[in-house]
Amino acid sequence: MRTFKTVVVTGGAGFIGSNLIHYLFERPDFDGRIVNLDALTYAGNLESLADIQQKHGGSRYFFEKVDICDRNAVERIFDAYCPDAICHLAAESHVDRSILGPEAFIRTNVMGTFTLLDVARGAWSGRTDVLFHHVSTDEVFGSLGETGCFTELTPYDPRSPYSASKASSDHLVQAYHHTYGLPITLSNCSNNYGPYQFPEKLIPVMILNMLEGKPLPVYGDGKNIRDWLYVEDHNSAVWTVMTSGRVGQTYNIGGENEWENIRLLDCLIGLVAEESGKDVSALRSLITYVKDRPGHDRRYAIDCSKLKRELGWKQSLGFDEGLRRTVRWYLDNPAWIARVRSGEYRTWMERNYGSR
Ligand code: NAD
Ligand code: DAU
Repeated sequence: MRTFKTVVVTGGAGFIGSNLIHYLFERPDFDGRIVNLDALTYAGNLESLADIQQKHGGSRYFFEKVDICDRNAVERIFDAYCPDAICHLAAESHVDRSILGPEAFIRTNVMGTFTLLDVARGAWSGRTDVLFHHVSTDEVFGSLGETGCFTELTPYDPRSPYSASKASSDHLVQAYHHTYGLPITLSNCSNNYGPYQFPEKLIPVMILNMLEGKPLPVYGDGKNIRDWLYVEDHNSAVWTVMTSGRVGQTYNIGGENEWENIRLLDCLIGLVAEESGKDVSALRSLITYVKDRPGHDRRYAIDCSKLKRELGWKQSLGFDEGLRRTVRWYLDNPAWIARVRSGEYRTWMERNYGSR
């Protein structure tokens, strides 16, 4: 099993990254340092890590406000901290935004990943005791019909600017391994949910709109299918791959937990009603079918048997329990919600979606 002294987490102020940093500091067997490298875009929020900063700041936790496209700044991080691992999460991550403005996705996801890889190649030349782990998505595989699952051998078929940019970054990661021998691992995961998720993604949008009595916007016929995984289970899988995965390999990560959007919403309505005391039928009456997302992928489902078989990983949390924890978290954290919605995000939402 690999151990690391200094892990650079890119995108550590985002949803999965901030959960990953919490997860690692809670692991009794992790005694290294974490450098959170994040540009703090609209999606990055240091408040998600206030407890970590207080407990470990300056000793085992360091924040660096850095754009991954800025080569000089990334080189400075390598010089200053001499990391032996990178867990690369920084990205533009929202499909709807990629449709409205693809350029930022190409810049960060493609050029940013290239910049990180190229700096790592220079700094780690000839070393085999280091690792570049790339966190990617199942969306690179395209859309499924009614049956079957994505495996690691499924051909890439990205269909949105977001997934095309992630596919491109995956290929660059593999290319740096094959061409330059950079030690890499890669993981492609399905839809995450849990605490600290930015309220532009389905589950937090729906929870917050229910709490505020706003319409619940269901795209198209509501029958698109996603495979949901609790964020901590994603992070335990990422760490399993980083510490035990075979170098050069890709591992699929998934919940084995497929839900039609409309069925998921129905379940969420029940939980929000139970946890908040709101009336179920009043919440149901908020469901509003809206214009579909252009090019909306119909179904994603992950076959994660390679990860289970080779590395012994498994999901730990049932969907009911995970969703309930998530609902509770949003109910218990109004200050976090107010803050993330008060800045650039609100302006962007209003510009593109009106008051919805
Ligand atoms: P997020 O949008 O919540 O967070 C992204 C973070 O990256 C933010 O903190 C942001 O400030 C930072 N960032 C953006 N551009 C940057 C730049 N140029 N330089 C430095 N930092 C920058 O995203 P997330 O949902 O936490 O996703 C994290 C990663 O996981 C992404 O690579 C995404 O593609 C992948 N992923 C996400 C999911 C999911 O369901 N959310 C599933 C599979 C894979
Ligand atoms: O599959 C992994 C991917 O999951 C990640 O790579 C992405 O970063 C992440 O954003 C997520 O992408 P999706 O497009 O699947 O997630 P989103 O939450 O945007 O949408 C989930 C489903 O819900 C999708 O079918 C669109 C639908 N939807 C979404 C929103 C925001 C709605 O019906 N209404 C909404 O308001």
